[in-house]
Amino acid sequence: MTDDTDIDNLTEEAARAELARLADVLAQANAAYHQQDAPEISDAEYDRLKARNAAIEARFPDLKRADSPSEQVGAGPAEGFSKVRHAVRMLSLGNAFADEDVADFDRSIRKYLGLGPDAALRYTAEPKIDGLSLSLRYENGRLVQAATRGDGETGENVTANARTIADIPATLEGAPDLLEVRGEVYMSHSDFAALNDRQRAADNKPFANPRNAAAGSLRQLDAEITRSRPLKFFAYAWGALSEPLAETQIAAIERLAALGFSTNPLTALCDGPEEMIAHYRGIEAQRATLGYDIDGVVYKVDDLGLQGRLGFRSTTPRWAIAHKFPAELAWTRLEAINIQVGRTGALSPVARLQPVTVGGVVVSNATLHNEDYIAGRGASGEVIRDGKDIRVGDWVQVYRAGDVIPKVADVDLGQRPADAVPFAFPDTCPECGSPAVREEGDAVRRCTGGVICPAQAVEQLKHFVSRKAFDIEGLGAKQVEQFHADGWIREPADIFELQAKFGSGLQQLKNREGWGAKSAENLFDAIDEKRTIPLARLVFALGIRHVGEVAARDLALHYGTWEALTAALETARPAALAHRQADEAEEAERARATEEGRRARITETRAAAIEALEVPQPARAAWADLVGADGIGPTLALSLSDALANPEERAAFDRLVAHLTVEAPDAPAADSPVAGKTVVFTGTLEKMTRAEAKARAEALGAKVSGSVSKKTDILVAGPGAGSKAKKAAELEITTLDEDGWLQLIGDA
Ligand code: IVH
Repeated sequence: MTDDTDIDNLTEEAARAELARLADVLAQANAAYHQQDAPEISDAEYDRLKARNAAIEARFPDLKRADSPSEQVGAGPAEGFSKVRHAVRMLSLGNAFADEDVADFDRSIRKYLGLGPDAALRYTAEPKIDGLSLSLRYENGRLVQAATRGDGETGENVTANARTIADIPATLEGAPDLLEVRGEVYMSHSDFAALNDRQRAADNKPFANPRNAAAGSLRQLDAEITRSRPLKFFAYAWGALSEPLAETQIAAIERLAALGFSTNPLTALCDGPEEMIAHYRGIEAQRATLGYDIDGVVYKVDDLGLQGRLGFRSTTPRWAIAHKFPAELAWTRLEAINIQVGRTGALSPVARLQPVTVGGVVVSNATLHNEDYIAGRGASGEVIRDGKDIRVGDWVQVYRAGDVIPKVADVDLGQRPADAVPFAFPDTCPECGSPAVREEGDAVRRCTGGVICPAQAVEQLKHFVSRKAFDIEGLGAKQVEQFHADGWIREPADIFELQAKFGSGLQQLKNREGWGAKSAENLFDAIDEKRTIPLARLVFALGIRHVGEVAARDLALHYGTWEALTAALETARPAALAHRQADEAEEAERARATEEGRRARITETRAAAIEALEVPQPARAAWADLVGADGIGPTLALSLSDALANPEERAAFDRLVAHLTVEAPDAPAADSPVAGKTVVFTGTLEKMTRAEAKARAEALGAKVSGSVSKKTDILVAGPGAGSKAKKAAELEITTLDEDGWLQLIGDA
């Protein structure tokens, strides 16, 4: 073994080899210690090797391996990559499918910015590369970190792997001190075909498509494998920056090209929807001969100042959109229709197909949506597919677009077997036998078994541990199914009791297939790590119908704590019930009220129904506060109220929360001068549209309200302000003009 004093004299080559050797020796030592319970080296020797590894890494930071032993916390190697929190979130894009959607995109941007239909507004148009996105961080011109997108907020550290890609420069001349370059890692068609030939020759499974091959090649713990895979990279965006790259998107891309990045040659500047669509058609015509996969064209507002004003929705920018190519199609035989039971009890029909290749991917399952869809009826009861129903044995058309689940789109009646019968949708749950009912206005039939339905319980648990919820490493869908089948986990709280119940169970787990002492210990650590959880994740993880990721975040921001949320919902319950009754009364009256004259009575009926229930004032207030919160509508509010008022569900929530420390959400931009303030805009705004003013204020943590009250902190009054300005004056509320407001928020 080389002596420790030699580190200063190591050549790069020797250092690379030595790091590989150390990674190997330490991994072997870990396995011997933790998995075989048979240590091969002393603790002191282990520590010495780790220190040596760290010293070499400190001297050659660029050589640090993806599976570096120093990234491995605690006793053993972490499974997989270390995590990287993105300095600027990595977003996805909204979609356009039809030409009309592109025109709508342009219109909505003009509206937001207050630009007339004739004002100049330019866009870039470029291919949407079908690969995986990567963020490259350069500090003082040196590549210091590469991270995958992950969930947009946190990705995987793949620095060592990215360094092996020829298109990714290790150093940059003349770049800003801090520059995060974003783009797509992809594999060309010819490289993909050659790789799959090699895979088959080595008896390895071939990749389904170039994108999977690129992802599989980048996400290798051994960067040497990545090096052997021909990956490419196109730069098309950026994250954190110490100074702007340029004033326009096109100039910023040219700057990235000048710095040494590959940028897509089919990027063009367009003057409006007509030119954008023309460029789209041009790219579509070349699609088959490009030599790499693309799945659409991305349009971006060219002026970066305008991009800044337009900003972001929760997960997508307002200033860009992806115009997707039409879906790919194939015909095949429908062999069976299975019913799957989802997390909220929804019975979903799944088509089992004779396998068929659709756009390069073998498809053997596809969604059939719901019973109406099978019968040939659309969401509003309208006739679809000319009313043709779908039967087992039919010859059906399957299509897929991008990542979405393949769908059965059409059926060829000419090929229908003589003995095919209409599909009888079950009215009981295939998993637990409970009645499956369809509520008025709901396209979906649902199992009424609730917690007694094993399928619902398992799906709830899978959702609970999923990436955007508790995201427990080592506890995925497969493990949840196994633990549920074993009776170890029946509800989320059980996850946090696993170790206590099976403290000795370490032994039990360890003896299971796929589990060793090491992985069991890792699992318990991963569970412990999630005993502290942000409120938004907790609320999302509960899997309440209609409460998605965005709504969960809105609720968390609005209430701040689990206690405040549950208390408010308890208070609001009588009002929630009154609203449900009012809805029902309204529905009944609507059914009766056919003549014109009776219309007015509907509103009266609703008011009377609410009145009759004598809802106490605090309940009304709590309900109004709930449905008045950003992003929360009555359907969601009712669903949330029902879930918390259901004694069994509530008890399960309480059992869970008892194990947790729930973190209050970060108030958005708490350091902004308007954070937490209630702002009202009135009169004409000249430098921004209403929508923009509202979005900007909300991004700074302010609440924007439509009317002036005692709760208002600031009134922003433009020319022509009337009664609101008067009322604000009476209430002695701070009133600013537009410039005063912009100055306050630092935009002037
Ligand atoms: S721009 C803020 N440009 O598409 C928006 N994305 O559906 C940043 N993608 O996650 C993305 N080609 O992985 C942009 N020319 C292109 C792209 C592109 C492919 C991917 C990217 C992104 C996804 C969004």
